[in-house]
Amino acid sequence: MKKLELLYEGKAKKVYNTDDQNYYWVEYKDDATAFNGAKKGTIVDKGIVNNKMSALMFTYLKENGVDNHFVELVSDREQIVQRLQMLPLEIVVRNIVAGSLAKRVGKEEGYPLPEPVLELYYKDDALGDPMVNESHALAFGWATKEQLETMKEIALKANKLMTEIVARAGIDLVDYKLEFGVKDGKVMLGDEISPDTCRFWDKETKEKLDKDRFRRDLGKIEEAYAEVYSRIKEAIANV
Ligand code: TMP
Ligand code: ASP
Repeated sequence: MKKLELLYEGKAKKVYNTDDQNYYWVEYKDDATAFNGAKKGTIVDKGIVNNKMSALMFTYLKENGVDNHFVELVSDREQIVQRLQMLPLEIVVRNIVAGSLAKRVGKEEGYPLPEPVLELYYKDDALGDPMVNESHALAFGWATKEQLETMKEIALKANKLMTEIVARAGIDLVDYKLEFGVKDGKVMLGDEISPDTCRFWDKETKEKLDKDRFRRDLGKIEEAYAEVYSRIKEAIANV
């Protein structure tokens, strides 16, 4: 497969066309942003860790029955993915209260939720990705009822698999964000799964091993990304 022209450059990734209309060529960057781009920086070799971490998680999910866009790694920073028609929605899955939920409901970070909480966001940078609900999504045609049902099913199935595997690595999967697209009429998981898009806390020390180290200026960002990747990789290898 050939890497062709750049189609889209986002905050953390570049998407290239290929000579096969079924696939895109994705390159993960070291650029880091937070608070809808208001905070900018670089996390050295983040692109490498997130590329490999996404590959690892997507492969694990696929092997356990959660189909997704990942096809193969092509270099340290690049992977081939299936070409999906992305839905303009994000699902955030929460197992433990943190981040914006802690602020919204006035709860301490760390409160374990009795069951996973799913939130829906409308993907629009200019609006700062506002939180919406299913009736908004239906009313504005962002997804059909069936697509929303499938997204929720996939999110909960992925949550069970991901929570269990990271627990084996001694890590709490606090919360994370998923994105979905459609291929041949089928809703599928896309985008990335990495310390940029998930909150990971060490089970014992509660140390943050994710992008909150960048958002909150906690230091040792590169080390945390590398550690979380190697621990989860080892846990998956030992299944
Ligand atoms: P939040 O607490 O800021 O709403 O974030 C919830 C989870 O979603 C957290 O794991 C980080 C992830 N997330 C993204 O991946 N992209 C985003 O733009 C935001 C706001 C959150
Ligand atoms: N991804 C978002 C941004 O670039 C927010 C975040 O991850 O905190 O600003």
